[in-house]
Order: sequence, then structure tokens, then C-alpha cells
Amino acid sequence: MELIILLAQSFWLIAPAYAANAFPPLVKGKKPLDFGKKIFGRRLLGDGKTIKGTFFGIIFGMIIGSLQIYGQNYVPAELGLNLIVMTPMLVFLLAAGAMAGDLAGSFIKRRVSMERGASFPLLDQLGFVVFALIFASFSVSISIEIVIVLLVLTIPIHLLANAIGYLARVKKNPW
Ligand code: CTP
Ligand code: MG
Repeated sequence: MELIILLAQSFWLIAPAYAANAFPPLVKGKKPLDFGKKIFGRRLLGDGKTIKGTFFGIIFGMIIGSLQIYGQNYVPAELGLNLIVMTPMLVFLLAAGAMAGDLAGSFIKRRVSMERGASFPLLDQLGFVVFALIFASFSVSISIEIVIVLLVLTIPIHLLANAIGYLARVKKNPW
């Protein structure tokens, strides 16, 4: 029972970040966020990070978070879930943090000479969650249990979601 509550609290908190991270592959952006700029002969971020993808990722994360802000008043207190209260600020931090983490991951990949779309285990799956949690922590306190649950469970969930995106031809690579 306690585990179920912990899982509910964890995914409730990270939902806007998951939403923000899942959306960019769907919007088919073209203009790269780094405008093609290079440093030390390598792209700053690469063609996989577009202006449109990043912008609509944040928007979609905030839409999901807005639904949570609205819906949280209807979660029966008797369930004893004790969900973190969603606020516009927290929702923004989660969505923007997720995008920032994804961009930071690409920045690191380009610095170690990895091409766009190359696989960097853990960084690809967890960059967005780590940044989303750090950003969110400026607004709420997050228990270590929630952090551990999200770090561990996001890896298989992300891999599974990407495999589905690959089969649905939304993503070029199954990672
Ligand atoms: N995408 C986007 N804007 C973003 C993030 C992603 O437009 N900010 C789109 C791109 O079409 C990208 C796809 O979603 O190719 C998959 O995202 P991701 O796997 O994060 O990017 P990669 O192409 O693998 O690039 P990188 O190697 O830099 O991670
Ligand atoms: Mg990728």
C-alpha cells in the first residue's frame, strides 16, 4: 500500500516533465535551436533539438500540469495519497527543466563527438528527469524516495516509450 502511494506521488510529480519530453518528436520541428552554430568544430546541440520541438514540449508539459492543477481538487483525501500540490510555477519548472535536461544531454553528446541520434545510455533516459527534479526543487521539497523511484523506473519506461515511438515511426531510433 505504501509502495502504491509512493508510486502515485512520484508519477504525479513528474507527469509534466514526462509530457514535455515526449512531445517534441511529434511536432516535426525544422529550425535547430542552436541555429547551426558550432563550437570547437562541433554543433552546439545538433539538428535533433529544434525551436518548435522545444517550445511545444514546454507548452504540452504545462497543459498536462494545468490539468493536474485543476484535477487535484477532486482527488479524494480519504485515499491518503498526499500528492505534491501542483502550482503554475512548479508546472513551469518541471516542463522547462525537462527540456533543459534534454538539451544539456545533447550538448554533452556533441562535446564527446557523438552524432545526432547516437545512443548515450543513462544520459538519454535520465537527463530530463534529473534536471526537472532539480528545477522543481526550487519550488517544493522532494523526498529522496521519490527521487530514487523516478531515477530507477524512468529508465525502462523511457526505453519502452521510445521503442513504441520507433515502431510507430515517430522516432528514428529505438532509444
Ligand atoms: N526533438 C525536437 N526538439 C527537441 C527535442 C527533440 O525537435 N528539443 C525531436 C527531433 O526530431 C529529434 C527527436 O525529437 O530527432 C527525438 O529526440 P531525441 O532522441 O532527444 O534527439 P536525437 O535526435 O536523438 O538527438 P541527440 O543525439 O541530440 O539526443
Ligand atoms: Mg535520441
